[in-house]
Amino acid sequence: MSQVTEHFTRACRALAGGVSSSTRVNQALGHAMKFDRASGCRIWDLDGREYLDLCCSHGATMLGHGDPRVQRSVERVLARGAACSYENELHTELAELLCETIPSLERVRFTGSGTEATMHCIRLARAVTDRHLLLRFEGNFHGYHDQVMFGSTESGTFHPALQPQSSGIVPGLAQHIVQIPYNRPDLVDAAFSRFGDQLAAAICEPIYYNAGCVVPTAEFMQTLRSCATEHGTVLIFDEVLSSFRVCAGGAQQYLGITPDLCTLGKAVGGGYPLSVFGGRADLMQRLMPEGDCQHSGTYNGHPVVIAAALAALHAYREDDFYTHIEAVATRLYNGMRQLFERRGLPIRIQGLGARFGIYCGLTEEVRSYQDTLPHDRAMMLRLIAAAIEEGVYFHDYGGAACHHGFCAATTLQDVDEILARLGRAVEQLT
Ligand SMILES: Cc1ncc(COP(=O)(O)O)c(C=O)c1O
Repeated sequence: MSQVTEHFTRACRALAGGVSSSTRVNQALGHAMKFDRASGCRIWDLDGREYLDLCCSHGATMLGHGDPRVQRSVERVLARGAACSYENELHTELAELLCETIPSLERVRFTGSGTEATMHCIRLARAVTDRHLLLRFEGNFHGYHDQVMFGSTESGTFHPALQPQSSGIVPGLAQHIVQIPYNRPDLVDAAFSRFGDQLAAAICEPIYYNAGCVVPTAEFMQTLRSCATEHGTVLIFDEVLSSFRVCAGGAQQYLGITPDLCTLGKAVGGGYPLSVFGGRADLMQRLMPEGDCQHSGTYNGHPVVIAAALAALHAYREDDFYTHIEAVATRLYNGMRQLFERRGLPIRIQGLGARFGIYCGLTEEVRSYQDTLPHDRAMMLRLIAAAIEEGVYFHDYGGAACHHGFCAATTLQDVDEILARLGRAVEQLT
């Protein structure tokens, strides 16, 4: 029997659902993958089968698995005793370097997860504005706390029927949300005209990777920025997934739009569990102990993750880092397009930097959540299962369209190997 399935079955007896995170069950397999080891862009399962990794820890291992620079940095801090829940000089260095790298950051705080980072930004925005409404965009994902766990059952404006995405959500929270579709500057204008003086914050994914890869139009982003400024609403860019993906300064640098607050996650920790939130100094000063808004946590800024993040940030800031990302992206995305085209498969690739979406059955540009709905999920699940069989690892979380990505350890030769393996997978589909 396969070690992977045997261990998953065994895990289910003690670990709820056999996983530490509900979305870790790969829907294309019906169970969680169990990996034994990883190096660079390759991972090996418990049965010793090798895969080229196009999930990359859901975006966390941007440098690749076991990056030696990160490993050395972690080992140095472990040798010092890794005194947790205390601060050392590395916290200062990382904070300074982040403020130098990300346009909106004048002050930062370290926290554990992307979920916490968005929760704290929203709380801080409410504290500074003394307002409670939150403007958000249909389908954008901001983590697992009660304030943001809503999907819509219909495409509507302002107050569509919002459905909690989990049981156990505090009733009535949806009344604090104004929701509009992504990439609609006209509706941004309308929402601010109607609710502007009540909006504490507007939160968005500045590149909407959680629907695969949806890039905002310049008009949409400029309207959002100018309306937020005009109405004194705190503009929050949730860069948990987009940070370091396309350039060191994040989506905000790429788009040339500076939010008031932002979150960073996943890649920021170099494969270790760190998230960051920060922004304008006058807003961040509202945090205790200077101000009256609480943000604390025993494991915040654990020295191991701070050391890992410092090494990762130095790597992202290297001159040729994003030249390589762009070269790999171009070869991989064009290669996949040609592969699907040659087989006559109606599959669209949208990618920017190191992450991309695969849309089955769609040929037009995807610009919003609604555009993803006709995505042929059954075809996608078959494609992923066949790719895994041939040694390319994709993960399906269970949503409409998912995001995939590569890491910086992927070489152009690795791309050719990925494409050869995918070519064999695609043959199984036709
Ligand atoms: C944009 C965005 N925000 C927030 C989160 C939540 O982050 P975490 O899973 O670290 O809590 C995610 C996770 O995928 C995300 O993509």
